[in-house]
Amino acid sequence: TGQQLIWLPACASTNSEAQQLLRENRASEGCTVITDDQFAGRGQRGNQWLAAPGENLTLSIIWLPTFLEASQQFLLSQAVALGIYDWAELLLGASPMLRLKWPNDLYFGTQKLGGILIENSLSGAKIQSSIVGIGLNVNQRHFTLPTATSLGALTGRYFQREELAARLLECLEKRYLQLRAGRLRELRQSYLAALYRYQEWHDYEVAGRRVRGQIVGVEPDGRLALRIGDEVQHFGLQEVKHV
Ligand code: BTN
Repeated sequence: TGQQLIWLPACASTNSEAQQLLRENRASEGCTVITDDQFAGRGQRGNQWLAAPGENLTLSIIWLPTFLEASQQFLLSQAVALGIYDWAELLLGASPMLRLKWPNDLYFGTQKLGGILIENSLSGAKIQSSIVGIGLNVNQRHFTLPTATSLGALTGRYFQREELAARLLECLEKRYLQLRAGRLRELRQSYLAALYRYQEWHDYEVAGRRVRGQIVGVEPDGRLALRIGDEVQHFGLQEVKHV
């Protein structure tokens, strides 16, 4: 990962750039596109991803996880989430504040440090290729959302992005290899150990209603298992929100 590294001064979205490289057969597995200024970044749930130019990491990696079934897309998302988690732990030190918020946001306390947008293309029941888009807040100090933070805001330090990118790719590669080797139990255990609000009772929004729930696990397909009252229900990304 990262052998072929393309660092662009600016682009609309690194996911779209990577998409195009793939379409034109100009990318091998691990090829990574990074930009200093992503001006039309895309996030989960159709949101925009905003990042101040020159201060953060916005990048996309091309992987070819053809060993995964289409029904296993969450495993990839889990591995990538753990990769960014390991990276943050390396930089901030181990902390119970550092968490993965389901499905794959990186949080410190109640503030978001980064997120992931994976776009897979399928061939039949298999994954053919994946664009793994990652946005991490690094040196940016001012955010429009009060729920966002950065490594710099948390530590008061300035981080060299080239160095951070190199370490990130190492962390991701490690988890990707773990996935490829079929070490799914380990991945699952690490994920649950890092999961935000795991086994705690909090408020969630389900079908426009506020309910009290306890996260008790994550299904193999990525749906969140939430205990509501004395019943466990499963929810997809569009069906439940933390409040
Ligand atoms: C989210 O938390 O909503 C996911 C954010 C993903 C943002 C990254 S930045 C690099 C890549 N290119 C994009 O357009 N989006 C992803």
